[in-house]
Amino acid sequence: MGDSDSRGFPLRHGNHDVRVESLKGDRRGPRKRAALFSDQPIVAHLVRIRVLGSAAGGGFPQWNCNCRNCAGLRRGTLRARARTQSSIVVSGDGKSWALVNASPDILAQLAAQPDLQPARMLRDSALLGCVLVDGQIDHTTGLLMLREAGRPWRVWCTDAAYADLTTGHPVLRVLKHYSGVERRRIDLDGEEFGVDGVGGVRWRALPVASKPAPYSPHRESPEAGDNVALILTDAARGRSALYAPGLGAIDDSVWSAMRTASCVLVDGTFWTDDEMIALGASKKRAREIGHLPQSGAGGMLEWLAKLPAATRKILIHVNNTNPILDEDSAQRAELERRGVEVAYDGMEIAL
Ligand code: MLT
Ligand code: MN
Ligand code: ZN
Repeated sequence: MGDSDSRGFPLRHGNHDVRVESLKGDRRGPRKRAALFSDQPIVAHLVRIRVLGSAAGGGFPQWNCNCRNCAGLRRGTLRARARTQSSIVVSGDGKSWALVNASPDILAQLAAQPDLQPARMLRDSALLGCVLVDGQIDHTTGLLMLREAGRPWRVWCTDAAYADLTTGHPVLRVLKHYSGVERRRIDLDGEEFGVDGVGGVRWRALPVASKPAPYSPHRESPEAGDNVALILTDAARGRSALYAPGLGAIDDSVWSAMRTASCVLVDGTFWTDDEMIALGASKKRAREIGHLPQSGAGGMLEWLAKLPAATRKILIHVNNTNPILDEDSAQRAELERRGVEVAYDGMEIAL
């Protein structure tokens, strides 16, 4: 890691970044190149969201699962993409990125995205900090895989997640013995925050109805801040995205953020409330573990149908049992009719 090298780029033109892509291979120094382009059109960067992992905990296929989806994908009889566990990255300039959730698959995810490893010095990464939406295993265990960082990991999380991550699943305590941790508090008062070094993006967290992780000392008595939705705003244009991989219910504040967002990336875990029960994989309903199912009365699809047609609607954090993973399923066809997309690993959204 290191933002010292990246500080010279992107080139500045007044208050704007100028196009740098076309400069590849130019051996002149940054200042001369900037001068050369002073009369070029100004291209402000877009906030970009890239999906590193689009599956829920367990990934797809899940190592021990022989459900129709997992078995079909393994046998090659199902038209579907494999997916790794839940994580996205966010950037305002395409060079410096914030990691949002650190999945146990992070090393494979980074290997699949070479520009996140720009190799400007011996030890280097484009990831400058990590924002957590909760303390779930699938969102936090990857921090242990990133323990070689050359400086303390800046980790943004709520007090409730911090308590879980220093007790029930003490990842942040363990990490202190490796890279170190510089914890930054996510407040629930709606105050915006920034991720150091990741310019052009404003962040805001909204508490959402969901559940703390199964290991949490207060699993059955959820608190505000166990799970948050993130609102990512492009500081230059004001366009925003709402990211909520765990969303058990949609209250007024979440709904109002969804209505004003250009793009919603929301809980795509289960198609039906009893999906795991019907399969014999669990005794719990989707809602009981903090995930609003897509189908049925009051389900995610009903909510998405009420959003403006121009809003990009994407389901993310998809469990391996969900029939929408099968690209030939009736459920997937229904999503297509409704203009709802299914996130996949490597998907990139420009706000
Ligand atoms: C969840 O969001 O409920 C998870 O995916 C659980 C897990 O990490 O296994
Ligand atoms: Mn999860
Ligand atoms: Zn499965």
